[in-house]
Amino acid sequence: MDGGIRENDISRIVDLDRDHIWHHLTQHKPFETGEPRVIVEGRGMRVWDQKGKEHLDAVSGGVWTVNVGYGRESIANAVRDQLVKLNYFAGAAGSIPGALFAEKVIQKMPGMTRVYYCNSGSEANEKAFKMVRQIAHKRFGGKKNKVLYRERDYHGTTIGCLSAGGQDERNAQYGPFAPGFVRVPHCLEYRAQWDLSGEAYGQRAADAIEEVILAEGADTVGALCLEPVTAGGGVITPPQGYWERVQEICKRYDVLLHIDEVVCGVGRTGKWFGYQNYGVKPDMVTMAKGVASGYAAIACLVTTEDVFDMFKDDASDPMNYFRDISTFGGCTAGPAAALENMRIIEDEDLLQNTLDMGARMIENLNALADKHSVVGDVRGAGLFCGAELVQNRTTKEPAAEKKVQAVVADCMSQGVVIGATNRSLPGYNNTLCFSPALIAKADDIDHITDAVDQALSRVFG
Ligand SMILES: Cc1ncc(COP(=O)(O)O)c(C=O)c1O
Repeated sequence: MDGGIRENDISRIVDLDRDHIWHHLTQHKPFETGEPRVIVEGRGMRVWDQKGKEHLDAVSGGVWTVNVGYGRESIANAVRDQLVKLNYFAGAAGSIPGALFAEKVIQKMPGMTRVYYCNSGSEANEKAFKMVRQIAHKRFGGKKNKVLYRERDYHGTTIGCLSAGGQDERNAQYGPFAPGFVRVPHCLEYRAQWDLSGEAYGQRAADAIEEVILAEGADTVGALCLEPVTAGGGVITPPQGYWERVQEICKRYDVLLHIDEVVCGVGRTGKWFGYQNYGVKPDMVTMAKGVASGYAAIACLVTTEDVFDMFKDDASDPMNYFRDISTFGGCTAGPAAALENMRIIEDEDLLQNTLDMGARMIENLNALADKHSVVGDVRGAGLFCGAELVQNRTTKEPAAEKKVQAVVADCMSQGVVIGATNRSLPGYNNTLCFSPALIAKADDIDHITDAVDQALSRVFG
């Protein structure tokens, strides 16, 4: 563990961090008496902190990002070589890695043809919202500008994205929000809003979207923005029949389908993209996190040629193109890293590994549910799994957030980093989240679920 600093200097780093760093999602008062955590090094599935303590990372860097694992020299080399050749030029011009990654990613996305680069998931979603509004102005007199989003989904941290945010606790205190965003119901069958199950529930949940479109007026609704599998809202795998009906509804009312693949994209569910599990044909897809596994900041919005064409059909109109800027969309490190990231996934057959290891994780979590009555529901797709904790299986009363966080803390003290929905959904921050790197082996999966087993025994008795 050195990371370029001498062993003795680490306490200075911790002091600097305590004195100057403002961590995301963190209340800092405890650092007045305790230490902030500093992660110093990572290799494969493991990271080491300032004390040299090893952790098995079951959340790919905390937020579903490091899909191919830590310490990949080939990605570092690809980025270095590209930076030496050309680090940056603004997106009005092209770049070699930009063109090559675009070719590679759209090969995996039949029907999609155009890639717009930017640098975070929030930014990519903002681009999509802007496109919807501009299309409304160009084609529908400005009227068809509303974006529908779903309860429990999350699309990013900016005011625009929070306006499309289905997590009330995440949004709290950040209003007022932008107009033109309208909520549709969630599709989590375990928390069913209708007395139906299976395909009937899935279709009903999709029909609820149609009801919102009709209530708003189809001529005012431009797009529907959904996560393929809801991530931070509780790892919600869609019920059967849901996506087919959603697609039909979008077609019927000429509503663009924008799929937020920021978490699911590039392998997380065992397919290149989450929507490909459900036979959906999107108009716009946004991706970030796992695109370059965190080796460089990159996000993009990928569209069909039909969407693209709407921005070039009248070249004589000086306003008729996508008048959006992304300074860091011109960084070449992103697509250079992303290309190498995809090569690794292909050459190491990581999609298949994700399916195999994801199945093992679900099996292990189901075994935990047999043993611990607090595990009310187990859900997942590939290496993207959740276990919802409840106080009572019959009433499904959610486990208290404090106790859920105690399970996370217990795992951490065992050297296993897991996640949980947190401060997102009032009363429902009760789902443990697991998203290990796609390189996970059977022993890693067992190690993670063994730690959870012990933690559940200790916290819930
Ligand atoms: C589904 C989804 N979309 C968008 C975002 C926002 O991405 P970023 O944090 O890169 O802006 C996130 C972040 O967690 C996410 O989970």
